[in-house]
Amino acid sequence: MTDAAPRAMRIDVFSIFPAMVGDFASQSLLGRAGQKGLLDIRVHDLREHTTDVHRTVDDSPFGGGAGMVLRAEPIYASVEAADPPRPLFLLGPGGRRLDQALAQELAVSGGFSMLCGRYEGVDDRVRTELCDGELSIGDYVLGGGEVAAMVVLEAVGRLVPGVMGNAASAGDESFSHGLLEYPQFTKPAVFRGMEVPEVLRSGDHARIERWRRSMALLRTMAARPDLIEARGGLSDADRALLEEFPAAD
Ligand code: ADE
Repeated sequence: MTDAAPRAMRIDVFSIFPAMVGDFASQSLLGRAGQKGLLDIRVHDLREHTTDVHRTVDDSPFGGGAGMVLRAEPIYASVEAADPPRPLFLLGPGGRRLDQALAQELAVSGGFSMLCGRYEGVDDRVRTELCDGELSIGDYVLGGGEVAAMVVLEAVGRLVPGVMGNAASAGDESFSHGLLEYPQFTKPAVFRGMEVPEVLRSGDHARIERWRRSMALLRTMAARPDLIEARGGLSDADRALLEEFPAAD
């Protein structure tokens, strides 16, 4: 058996503002993952594939109307030159909504790509013929897909195996069990008269686990009851925990 290093997961991004996305991807967790060879994020400048002196990427819409539309030619040329990993998603409010489950799905995929649109639009032949699907980060309209691309990169990148230093923390956190996160504290034990719950200082790890689970349930019931419903309501074990720890302390 060989002990080959895992291949970096490649994610390509196509944008008219490549510096925005490239700078973001070179820093913090994503930057370190790139240096470690776990992520290979490639950002492509759509203007590099224009043919006129002004490097024009957009034009007025057929049929008239306000705003400009991103042209098909530079996008097709850029994608064909890069031969990016598929699926290629067009970012826009009409796409499948990103959630933790989709982020997890993409994190264990063989790579994917994103095309940042501008809000006025992208020539629809790009959407229907070049792209494989559409991705949205929420029900609001951004000026363009760049911020959305960064959201996807961050949500997915941190879930790529090996990227998070402490593998346990990705599994513990909000949404991964369909619950919000339990509260966390660090030193000092008393800050301006506010005390860290006694149980966390008890050293009784089983009790701490039960307390944390109960706090996650309480928080979710208060802030996101829809998530409890989505899990099929409270189990008998959940109810027992809530009886043991009905409040934070
Ligand atoms: N571009 C514009 N709005 C967007 C959204 N909500 N999600 C993804 N890309 C977008």
